[in-house]
Amino acid sequence: GLVTYVSFDGEKTTVDVANGDSLMQGAIDNGIDGILGDCGGGCACATCHCMVDEAWYAKTGEPDDMEADMLDGVLDPKPTSRLSCQVFMSDELDGIVVHLPESQF
Ligand code: FES
Repeated sequence: GLVTYVSFDGEKTTVDVANGDSLMQGAIDNGIDGILGDCGGGCACATCHCMVDEAWYAKTGEPDDMEADMLDGVLDPKPTSRLSCQVFMSDELDGIVVHLPESQF
């Protein structure tokens, strides 16, 4: 499904991410700056922080406890912050918009 990544300075990039792939993987595969994903998706680095667009946040669901702990440590966390390696593409999320932070650390 389609994912639109919005950079910190407002540049939008829309790419097709396969169902089952994480939004972190989709960003890496498509060369999106602003998501690093240093740990490869293990919920251990928090360099894949994104802010889900408010219109989509309810559909992504809330972070689990482990992810929430990691989100406590990111730069400038927001109520809609998620680790993009823990959000997986599905038909339901087709068209999702996520905002990228100014920096991952
Ligand atoms: Fe490391 Fe998401 S890629 S926490």
